[in-house]
Amino acid sequence: MQNSIRIIASNWWKEAVVYQIYPRSFKDANGDGIGDLAGIFSKVDYLTELGVDAVWLSPINTSPMFDFGYDISDYRAIDPVFGSMADFDALVAALHKRNIRLLLDLVVNHTSHQHPWFVESRASRESAKRDWYIWHNGKKGAPPNNWQSVFGGSAWEWDETTESYYLHSFLKEQPDLNWRNPQVKDAVFADIEFWLQKGVDGFRLDVVNCYYKDQQFRDNPLRLWGWRHPRPYELQHHVHDMSQPEMHPLLRDLRQLLDKYDATSVGEVLVDFSGDPELAAGYLGRDDELHMTFDFTLLDQKWDAKAMANVLRTWLNACGENWPTLAFNNHDRSRSYTRYAKRGESSQRAKILAALLLTMKGTPYLYYGEEIGMKDGSVSRAEMKDPVGIRYWPLAQGRDPARTPMLWDDSANGGFTSGTPWLPVNDDFAGRNVASEKNDPTSLWHWYRELLSLRKQHAALRLGDWKEIYGGKDVFAYRRTIGNESIDVFLNFSAKPVTLPPVEGKILLSNCSRHELQGALTGHEILMVQSNAVAR
Ligand code: NOJ
Ligand code: CA
Repeated sequence: MQNSIRIIASNWWKEAVVYQIYPRSFKDANGDGIGDLAGIFSKVDYLTELGVDAVWLSPINTSPMFDFGYDISDYRAIDPVFGSMADFDALVAALHKRNIRLLLDLVVNHTSHQHPWFVESRASRESAKRDWYIWHNGKKGAPPNNWQSVFGGSAWEWDETTESYYLHSFLKEQPDLNWRNPQVKDAVFADIEFWLQKGVDGFRLDVVNCYYKDQQFRDNPLRLWGWRHPRPYELQHHVHDMSQPEMHPLLRDLRQLLDKYDATSVGEVLVDFSGDPELAAGYLGRDDELHMTFDFTLLDQKWDAKAMANVLRTWLNACGENWPTLAFNNHDRSRSYTRYAKRGESSQRAKILAALLLTMKGTPYLYYGEEIGMKDGSVSRAEMKDPVGIRYWPLAQGRDPARTPMLWDDSANGGFTSGTPWLPVNDDFAGRNVASEKNDPTSLWHWYRELLSLRKQHAALRLGDWKEIYGGKDVFAYRRTIGNESIDVFLNFSAKPVTLPPVEGKILLSNCSRHELQGALTGHEILMVQSNAVAR
């Protein structure tokens, strides 16, 4: 029988700012050129100084690294390249001591082909774990249907041993689990609980809408081929191998488990080629499925106040009573600094984006290096590591440019490693790194820090209601209100001056040493005004 008592967990995750670390690229402590847990441990004071409340680590479990950790062969162990369980425990303790929570990446749509479950499953048709994965006979010597891997090519791999096909929505080294088998759910939930008991505060769920597939294995409808999309090699709409309704009851069960530990969750919802706010918000249920999901349309916007306002309004509306997230960067996409680069305007744009991220309604997610304005690295074909980049170069560059090493200082390799970095260090590291930006009070790093601290001081920014207050072409402006505190935010996306609508109150933040609320907004001006709703 289902336990009907709903544990009322706290809402810490609504007030937190999350910092995503790609562990291979953050800090290498032992000189092998690959970032590790000891490296992250050595930077916990940096995280405190910056002012984030939680860290999300991209996968650190044992993995043969075909997809750099998104192919896990042991859910309960730490990959030796990242360190040991003792390193992990030390990191959790160090973070918790500083009131920083820890989220892990939960990659359970698929395992590695080297996971003992799959090894057993593929050994024979009679294996006890045969039905833990999705096996199918071919159709007249061809795969069972037309489903394609998100990384291109058929999603079915022929396996000689038992003369049968298995399904892999990503690489062939990432076989999909069969979530229709209750044993899979029990085993994965036990692995989740293992980490909850170790003190983990939540999970980011990889491709959370892919777990279930159409039981009749119907073909997906085809789409027109397009160059301009980040995955131009995708030739179909994932109607039957993604977003099946069975996911919702599963997430309700997961929510109960997480709430028992006051842990949170944030889901990656994959869609054909971009984001889909309605679909992403759909996995929040009635605040009884995932705590949060990402809307990737936020990463596909051009630099335009109106377009940005539209996409955020749509996302907040889709979330309704549930809680939104905000993220302009992650390990799969070109970095925002590069996406919005424009001669003479890039650094101003980065400050506007930071202000947007940290003053909008929703839990902000920063990606390592965003706070110093890291650009996409240039990674040559010879240096490339991402299997997707390697497979589709030069049609697509893959994801390595967004995964280059963190730039700590102007010493060799930007202070990332004493060895040879696994990906090249960005060539502008001497002028753009944490140490140099700390020394410059006008830097992007100081700007992020100031915004993070304002957010901490003002409940209106963390939890307040949100409403647009001005619909100009170049200015995005909104008001955050809680109790009798209200904060107005004006962001001028253009390089031109724009009339400032009438506004009263105290200037909380300005990027151009403004002292009065008269006059136009200057080009790229960022202005935050605090007013007392009662006095209004
Ligand atoms: C989404 C992750 O963000 C990406 O990096 C990974 O390659 C795929 N899921 C497969 O796990
Ligand atoms: Ca290392």
